[in-house]
Amino acid sequence: MNLIVVVSFSLIVLTYGSSFIYAEEERLLVNMTVVRNATALEAYCLDGSLPAYHLHRGFGAGARNWLLQFEGGGWCNDINSCLGRAKTHRGSTRYMSKWEVFSGILNNNVSLNPDFYNWNRVKLRYCDGASFAGDAKFDNGTSLLYFRGQRIWQAIILDLLPKGLGNARKALLSGCSAGGLASFLHCDNFTSYLPSNASVKCLSDAGFFLDARDISLNYTMRSFYEDVVSLQMLSSNFQGVEQNLDKNCTSSGHDPQENALPYIRTPFFILNSAYDVYQFHHILVPPSADLVGHWNHCKLNPAACSTDQINILQGFRNDMLTALGYFFENSGRGGMFINSCFAHCQSESQDTWFAADSPRVHNKTIAEAVGDWYFGRRVSKEIDCAYPCDTTCHNIIG
Ligand SMILES: *[C@@H]1O[C@H](CO)[C@@H](O)[C@H](O)[C@H]1NC(C)=O
Ligand SMILES: *[C@@H]1O[C@H](CO)[C@@H](O)[C@H](O)[C@H]1NC(C)=O
Ligand SMILES: *[C@@H]1O[C@H](CO)[C@@H](O)[C@H](O)[C@H]1NC(C)=O
Ligand SMILES: *[C@@H]1O[C@H](CO)[C@@H](O)[C@H](O)[C@H]1NC(C)=O
Ligand SMILES: *[C@@H]1O[C@H](CO)[C@@H](O)[C@H](O)[C@H]1NC(C)=O
Ligand SMILES: *[C@@H]1O[C@H](CO)[C@@H](O)[C@H](O)[C@H]1NC(C)=O
Ligand SMILES: *[C@@H]1O[C@H](CO)[C@@H](O)[C@H](O)[C@H]1NC(C)=O
Ligand SMILES: *[C@@H]1O[C@H](CO)[C@@H](O)[C@H](O)[C@H]1NC(C)=O
Ligand SMILES: *[C@@H]1O[C@H](CO)[C@@H](O)[C@H](O)[C@H]1NC(C)=O
Repeated sequence: MNLIVVVSFSLIVLTYGSSFIYAEEERLLVNMTVVRNATALEAYCLDGSLPAYHLHRGFGAGARNWLLQFEGGGWCNDINSCLGRAKTHRGSTRYMSKWEVFSGILNNNVSLNPDFYNWNRVKLRYCDGASFAGDAKFDNGTSLLYFRGQRIWQAIILDLLPKGLGNARKALLSGCSAGGLASFLHCDNFTSYLPSNASVKCLSDAGFFLDARDISLNYTMRSFYEDVVSLQMLSSNFQGVEQNLDKNCTSSGHDPQENALPYIRTPFFILNSAYDVYQFHHILVPPSADLVGHWNHCKLNPAACSTDQINILQGFRNDMLTALGYFFENSGRGGMFINSCFAHCQSESQDTWFAADSPRVHNKTIAEAVGDWYFGRRVSKEIDCAYPCDTTCHNIIG
């Protein structure tokens, strides 16, 4: 069973004087596996299609180690936005690419991914609209939507257990953005499926969403999440997003992962930018809070921000560090990498994960910080100095 194809392609860059720079790059493309047995669990994507993942087998010393990565991609928060999503690659495996590029933490090249390159690496496709956490169904006779993220998670795990996951020696559950939130929500559940003597840890990349006010003092994102929870949890039965969380923390707050963190028993690594671009654009300065567009230039280029705007961004960073303070001080087996680059998702792309010019904190790349933490080589809790001190940033704004 060989699901691997390595495609070589050439990139040609035209420069002055009609000379050419010729760069060769290899990309690992991995085939999609549809989970046929998901039908038995009624584990469907929004549109009723079967869920899927991409698996690249480990080898050598990594043959019994497993890295699972939740795909990200935002959320839908009402029937209409979910119906729209169901017709796209975010809500249906029908519309998804059947081959995925494995780079960054998923790369199989030791010089590009030194600690996880030879593990079994799995990308879990995201098609439920609620971070693999809902369990409900909407059916009013003319429209049908499945909110079955939890069942999708379970169906994929049950499919992978006999393929070797059930005998794992080491395992890491990761994910970015909505997938980073899924990593928080399912971390301990993941551990429960693995051998008790396995080393199991979890990583959230750009999944530490602050429950912060926007610049017009509204909790814009909080009400968005509340809509997601009530949609996927209350539509038919009371088994949804919050089922994953300790009752103590869901009753007290609005921000699942911020409140869930102290209750997660599995060792956890938090990777986030203190100026996460998604949070900047959707939590701190959502379009509804800046109708005039005072922030348009600053949103596209931090160098174009006014002093006042930079001060507001520094306030956001301070709030994030405060929210992480307890974890920083008390999580003996935890790790973190909070840099000051304008970015969102830094473990999945090669240039931010591990490359000659990757972002660094205290001269450590993200791949080194995560590897040091996973393998217990040294304490790995890195916090960057405030913008604009860090000269290693790529400041990807998009
Ligand atoms: C891709 O995967 C499917 C199912 O997992 C398999 O049937 C098919 O042969 C694979 N295709 C290639 C080119 O490997
Ligand atoms: C691994 O990556 C290095 C650095 O980019 C490259 O030189 C080498 O050819 C790659 N190896 C394979 C097997 O693709
Ligand atoms: C079902 O819901 C959809 C989306 O909200 C709506 O367009 C449609 O009119 C509804 N059908 C019925 C029978 O209420
Ligand atoms: C793990 O999650 C699945 C699906 O949500 C659930 O059925 C199962 O009971 C959970 N296991 C534990 C130990 O919580
Ligand atoms: C699918 O489910 C059936 C019945 O539970 C089981 O016997 C079979 O092994 C499963 N197949 C896979 C590929 O998991
Ligand atoms: C866990 O225990 C099983 C059964 O005793 C053994 O085969 C396996 O090698 C152990 N795994 C680790 C990581 O020690
Ligand atoms: C949860 O709340 C109960 C009752 O208020 C308390 O006894 C328990 O210690 C709390 N659990 C944690 C983990 O804080
Ligand atoms: C703030 O929230 C209130 C209540 O939800 C709403 O009426 C108001 O329009 C919001 N203002 C902005 C700028 O989003
Ligand atoms: C930073 O790390 C690189 C190796 O990744 C090393 O070559 C370089 O000397 C280090 N720089 C400093 C200032 O420690």
